[in-house]
Amino acid sequence: MAHSHAKPTGHERIETSNFLMIVLVLLTVAVGGAVEIVPLFFQRSTTQAVEGLKPYTPLQLAGRDVYVREGCYNCHSQMIRPFRAETLRYGHYSTAGEFVYDHPFQWGSKRTGPDLHRVGGKYSDEWHRIHLINPRDLVPESNMPAYPWLASSLLEPGEMAPKLKALRTLGVPYSDADIAGAAEGVKGRSELDAVIAYLQVLGTAVK
Ligand code: HEC
Repeated sequence: MAHSHAKPTGHERIETSNFLMIVLVLLTVAVGGAVEIVPLFFQRSTTQAVEGLKPYTPLQLAGRDVYVREGCYNCHSQMIRPFRAETLRYGHYSTAGEFVYDHPFQWGSKRTGPDLHRVGGKYSDEWHRIHLINPRDLVPESNMPAYPWLASSLLEPGEMAPKLKALRTLGVPYSDADIAGAAEGVKGRSELDAVIAYLQVLGTAVK
């Protein structure tokens, strides 16, 4: 830029002031972000459950918590993108209305293993049982960790009612009867039973 002794005006004034530049960039990004994000909170397609979506049963919900605790999301996404290569491999792409009862979402961001959003019904419970206890027994080249302790860890029935109640405050439509029966739903069941119940319902609301 040529040296000029006149005071900068207009755009030059902004570009020569760190302070103005930073403030105006932040303002522009904030407005741009709000315009993209705010409507998502009000659109039916992103806030309404798809037809046929049911809140997780206590057993499925307990399995979801094990999934989160064990960090399964570090290797598995639950988000099928609307590309041909993905829908051919996994089935119908994921839609926002399938996740409205998920707090928080388990979309994940890394696929060391396959996407799991439509794994529900793909294998038998017995397959999952063997696979989770030792993946190598079914898939010799698998580098997925083994989770043998899940089979011998019993679920804690007393934990379930407060979990359902917490989700109800976030808008998941659990009834008083659901909450009253929550403990019964996991009594005597193992964490392995729970993870399998959770895996088997994934992605089954959309046919
Ligand atoms: C270190 C990465 C890693 C972690 C952590 C991991 N997995 Fe996997 N998973 C894989 C890989 C790789 C495969 C593909 C090979 C196989 O089937 O074992 C796989 C396959 C699977 C499959 C079969 C999917 C299909 O469509 O064939 C299921 C179900 C699964 N994992 C569930 C889980 C669950 C539940 C957890 C947490 C308890 C978990 N995984 C944790 C890497 C991982």
